[in-house]
Amino acid sequence: MPDIKSEILTALRQSRNYISGQDLSEQLHVSRTAVWKHIQKLQEEGYDIEAVPNRGYRMISCPDTIASGEVVSRMTTRWIGKDIRYFAQIDSTNQYIKRIAEEGAPEGILAIADEQTAGRGRLGRSWSTPPKTAVAMSLLLRPTIPVERISMVTLIMGLAISQGCRELYPALDVGIKWPNDAVVNGKKISGTLTEMSTDMESVLYIVVGTGINVNVKTFPEEIRETATSIALELGEDQNRAQLIAVIMKHFEDDYERFLKTQDLSLLMDEYNRQLLNKGRKVRVLQPGHEYTGEALGINKMGDLLVKKEEGTVEAVYAGEVSVRGVYGYV
Ligand code: BTN
Repeated sequence: MPDIKSEILTALRQSRNYISGQDLSEQLHVSRTAVWKHIQKLQEEGYDIEAVPNRGYRMISCPDTIASGEVVSRMTTRWIGKDIRYFAQIDSTNQYIKRIAEEGAPEGILAIADEQTAGRGRLGRSWSTPPKTAVAMSLLLRPTIPVERISMVTLIMGLAISQGCRELYPALDVGIKWPNDAVVNGKKISGTLTEMSTDMESVLYIVVGTGINVNVKTFPEEIRETATSIALELGEDQNRAQLIAVIMKHFEDDYERFLKTQDLSLLMDEYNRQLLNKGRKVRVLQPGHEYTGEALGINKMGDLLVKKEEGTVEAVYAGEVSVRGVYGYV
């Protein structure tokens, strides 16, 4: 349930003109004094809200905050991210979701953090989330699908990030590096780590954790060559709450299409259009089996089809393998 603060933000954002204290109080079923107190709190938090006697309130600008009221007031999803848990600092949002999932928390909860002290990436790597400039978010899902299909959810999040960035930033030339990185100008702007818990043969829950370099300006030495941020590529900072809300909307739509067929048949055409590896030479780094070939695109299971030099086509499974561009990161 959105709180009064989020509802005030939603109303201010939706109204192009002034909205009166009376209208707000009727809409939200609270007194005009309560509305005024919430407006004052928002002003203290950095929202520039103009208050004009006899006209009402108007939002002039909002801070780049991802505190939950700001994200909740922008969400347009039906069930994903309706319950948002915000942390100024946390070890890892994936770890948080795992903790609450073990206690029986329902699916759809989204954890977001302004900073992670022990962020984790794929293949056992660490993931840096510097304070207040990036997005670190993890989603709890409880799909009733076979274990071997879970890796497809990672591809769906990669697609949703790319779709969200294309919608918000038409000037950003973003695409996907299989299986899920969003890439701009040959460098990575986001990554997703999906973790799961299973019993004998069924999935108990999955955690889809995504890190996006939104307004990050410097990177650790070891990834400086391969990482960039949306702000560095566009030349100005971007609103993180808006990005989270738009990505979640795309993810919800895509994920529901996936659940219908339990594969990517309804999504693979769009995924392949945004796939930067397509038609390029890649090196498949599979333990004990490394080879080079041309990436053709994904199949409905999310495998990357790679045409080897002798002409045979191999389907590379997303769960275990990494792929490098032969002439660069992609
Ligand atoms: C990758 O290596 O590309 C995946 C990076 C995933 C990082 C995100 S940030 C939010 C969530 N919490 C974590 O500890 N990791 C994921």
